[in-house]
Amino acid sequence: MPCLGTPLSPTATRVMLLGSGELGKEVLIALQRLGVETIAVDRYENAPGQQVAHHARTIAMSDPEALRALIEAERPQLVVPEIEAIATPMLEQLEAQGVVRVIPTARAARLTMDREGIRRLAAETLQLPTSPYRFCDSLEELQAAIDGTDGPAIGYPCIVKPVMSSSGKGQSRIDGPADVRKAWDYAMAGGRVSHGRVIVEGFIDFDYEITLLTVRARGADGSVETRFCAPIGHVQVAGDYVESWQPHPMHPAALEKAQQIARAVTDDLGGQGLFGVELFVKGEQVWFSEVSPRPHDTGMVTMATQWQNEFELHARAILGLPVDTSLRSPGASAVIYGGVEAAGIVFDGVDEALRVPQTELRLFGKPESFARRRMGVALAHDADVEQARRLAKEAAAKVKPRAA
Ligand SMILES: Nc1ncnc2c1ncn2[C@@H]1O[C@H](COP(=O)(O)OP(=O)(O)O)[C@@H](O)[C@H]1O
Ligand SMILES: [Mg+2]
Repeated sequence: MPCLGTPLSPTATRVMLLGSGELGKEVLIALQRLGVETIAVDRYENAPGQQVAHHARTIAMSDPEALRALIEAERPQLVVPEIEAIATPMLEQLEAQGVVRVIPTARAARLTMDREGIRRLAAETLQLPTSPYRFCDSLEELQAAIDGTDGPAIGYPCIVKPVMSSSGKGQSRIDGPADVRKAWDYAMAGGRVSHGRVIVEGFIDFDYEITLLTVRARGADGSVETRFCAPIGHVQVAGDYVESWQPHPMHPAALEKAQQIARAVTDDLGGQGLFGVELFVKGEQVWFSEVSPRPHDTGMVTMATQWQNEFELHARAILGLPVDTSLRSPGASAVIYGGVEAAGIVFDGVDEALRVPQTELRLFGKPESFARRRMGVALAHDADVEQARRLAKEAAAKVKPRAA
């Protein structure tokens, strides 16, 4: 693959993104810069990535036949999943038939599309430290798992999440018996598909949590090497990221454990590309939480902090090109939410936001805004990471989305 072609010609290197949100948009921009021909797929028209790609296609990516028909028609060399809700068994079939290469692998896409595949791999197969957990298919099973009537007790406090969900959807904390039914009902309403399975996890009272961006890319001798970015600290509100910064200071022993865990899980998932490994840390203790086999939302900070941001690293790694994960400057990111429910919104205060020194903005161009939809992000750099956090939050707060 290190031989790249000319887009829109018979030599083109063609890459298809499955999911074209704000993360896919930046991957597409990185690919465009290398002269790759890009096909941006999403389930709705004018998704952010579709606005910067050579070709835009709109299909239901969870429909296996629609997915197969599109891949067979477009014949990309690489298929790059950007979201979890994809018909991954079909990707495995097409990969096995040699029709297409899936990033990082079709198996990794399948294992990470629901919480059960990846949790069982990490905790049971790889024996990595995780929160205690059980999977439950009914309110009765949930109560029994918490109480330990049929096995080890998860106890209180604990967290319930639909097995198919992301960005905190359907996720809640249970502090005592009175919360159990509410958490179950909330999970049933918030999951991606309504098959009613949840994970209940013991609550980890961590000091902080990090994302460890881990890259599997080809070295000079052609073999795949693992590299780590500096740890990214972040704050989650209701299971959704609102702020991140890099580097997050860590005890050397905790950093080493974090890297060992990230290496173990990404070695197993295999392939080439960037992974976002989520870890909880308390003192020198580290727990694996989850992993995205693709750029991570908290990693948007790397657009202000690294010589090669997470999207460029992903693009390079999947194309078999060398990567450099080094830090350029400490920095931070702060999310800009829509605040309103409307299509075609406008943003006031962009000028004032950009007057905050050492900041930049990304407005994703999503056609429709929701109150809690991520519409943009402010980025800041500063030698002092705490100052960078203040600058990013200041800039984000000055951007005021409103209905037109
Ligand atoms: N077992 C747990 N103990 C403590 N906090 C948790 C636990 N599980 C999740 N969280 C908190 O909720 C956030 C979102 O959970 P996560 O499993 O990453 O869901 P998602 O896939 O929606 O990102 C985490 O980043 C963490 O802040
Ligand atoms: Mg997460």
